[in-house]
Amino acid sequence: MSYPDKVYLNGQIVDSAEAKISVFNRGFIFGDGLYEVMVQINGIFFYEKEHLARLQSGLHKVNIDFDVAILNNEIPKLLHAAQLTDVDCMLYIQITRGVAPRQHSFPSNIKPTVMIYAVPKVLPEINLVNAHVIIRKDFRWSRCDIKMTSLLGNVMLNEEAMQHDCYETILHRNGVFTEASHSNLFFVKDGAVYTHPADEHILNGITRIVVIELCHLLGIKIIEKAIKVAEIDSIDEAFLTGTSTQIAAIQNIDDHQLYSGNKKGPITKRLQEAFLKLK
Ligand code: PDD
Repeated sequence: MSYPDKVYLNGQIVDSAEAKISVFNRGFIFGDGLYEVMVQINGIFFYEKEHLARLQSGLHKVNIDFDVAILNNEIPKLLHAAQLTDVDCMLYIQITRGVAPRQHSFPSNIKPTVMIYAVPKVLPEINLVNAHVIIRKDFRWSRCDIKMTSLLGNVMLNEEAMQHDCYETILHRNGVFTEASHSNLFFVKDGAVYTHPADEHILNGITRIVVIELCHLLGIKIIEKAIKVAEIDSIDEAFLTGTSTQIAAIQNIDDHQLYSGNKKGPITKRLQEAFLKLK
């Protein structure tokens, strides 16, 4: 992975080596900021409106005063400077509350810090991974619906997967599966697809929403209800969703094998094929 050459910072396009923020930025001091990740495929940002709407809604939730409509003019400028107009790429947007002397409560008259960068990224047509995942306790906070930059919990949980040579860590809280360290989690049981409801214990992923829509379109029963950890033996299929993950089949959950070799479940496969047609 490499750094982008150009960065958008507070209205300016700058060389990334010259892009500087204050050490008193609340994003740095408190992790007091939000972010969004989306991908451009064939010149169009995949579900851009939904990504920006989630960002706007998150900003309202944490009381950061910023109108994301501004980004509609700013993103093309960054893409142009980065020579990524119409090129398949991943776009990262971060908005922090801004710079102020350290105090926990929200300072008044503070200007948000806005940073955007893009890096080339070509996603595979279908994610061919047959993921091995580990299960860990979801020890993150209780507002996982907010896509905040304070990701230490997610980072620690993801690192455990890497230490175990696994693709992801799937999480449980109060006896039920929630989501994964950087993706949403779905199960298939008796022909129906299950995923945790979009409450404060998960991020309501845009890919999650798209997959739910696809289930409706394909006539696959979709139930937004959490699966209990104790139900694991009755699971037929499982998969992960996310902006860069797309739809990734899960082959093993700890020592529990769902599929062997290159095989994956029929419903996972159907959804992957339908997802491909949206791009
Ligand atoms: N991660 N759940 C968590 C905790 C996530 O961090 C993500 C996304 C998702 C899936 O959301 P979406 O389908 O909107 O990408 C679910 C991003 C991509 C990241 O942190 O890089």
